[in-house]
Amino acid sequence: MNVSEAVARRISTRAFLPDPLSRADVSALLEAAQRSPSGGNVQPWKVIAVAGEARDALIALAASSLAGDPRAVVELDRPIYPPDLLEMDPVYDQRRRRVGEMMYDILDVPKTDRAGRLAWFANNYRFFGAPVGLFFVIDKRMGHGQWAHMGMYMQTIALLAEERGWGTCMQECWARLREQLNRHFELPDNEMVYCGMSLGVPDRTHKVNSLYAERAPQDEVVRFLGF
Ligand SMILES: Cc1cc2nc3c(=O)[nH]c(=O)nc-3n(C[C@H](O)[C@H](O)[C@H](O)COP(=O)(O)O)c2cc1C
Repeated sequence: MNVSEAVARRISTRAFLPDPLSRADVSALLEAAQRSPSGGNVQPWKVIAVAGEARDALIALAASSLAGDPRAVVELDRPIYPPDLLEMDPVYDQRRRRVGEMMYDILDVPKTDRAGRLAWFANNYRFFGAPVGLFFVIDKRMGHGQWAHMGMYMQTIALLAEERGWGTCMQECWARLREQLNRHFELPDNEMVYCGMSLGVPDRTHKVNSLYAERAPQDEVVRFLGF
């Protein structure tokens, strides 16, 4: 598989087979991802990989912490979306809503079925069935630049996973449990969990994995100058 194919094939996988991944295989992937670029080569990322009982403990932590409402509003010092998203160019919120509607259409869970949508969303906190969870940790004192570099690291992991026939779903929903996760992983005060990621072999028969999210046309995002 070449890079273009990996980029085009990568989707957010939201249903996985239970097939385990070995520590050696996950370690090799993460070793390869260390080649991700970062400003000044600071490499501001750390990652905690969980499988087996360690993964199950996180599922239990989420179940007890979210007690029935996986979408409960949690005040975050670093919100998942900017609080004034709705006041920005409306296109951002439109895109966010659009992908959600596409997903729930595929799953056949209408907006009126709030319980059904919540039940589906709760799968996030079971890693969508994936055998491995990754948790991305950053020093709280890092700035916006280093957060962007963390994103490069995560995307590199996602593309390397694709090459292996694996799938990923980045999961910032875990930020709702940031405080609990920080404690669970016994992080020092200066570190925090930014985001989670499910990793495993995709269940290609599951309809949710047929979602191929749209992208804006190029002229909305690119300016060519001097060509
Ligand atoms: C940093 C980050 C966090 C995300 N968090 C979640 C999440 O918590 N749950 C989820 O189902 N998808 C999550 N996504 C997936 C996005 O919804 C998805 O990338 C977007 O809709 C585009 O779809 P695609 O990844 O299939 O191309 C996240 C993506 C990114 C980059």
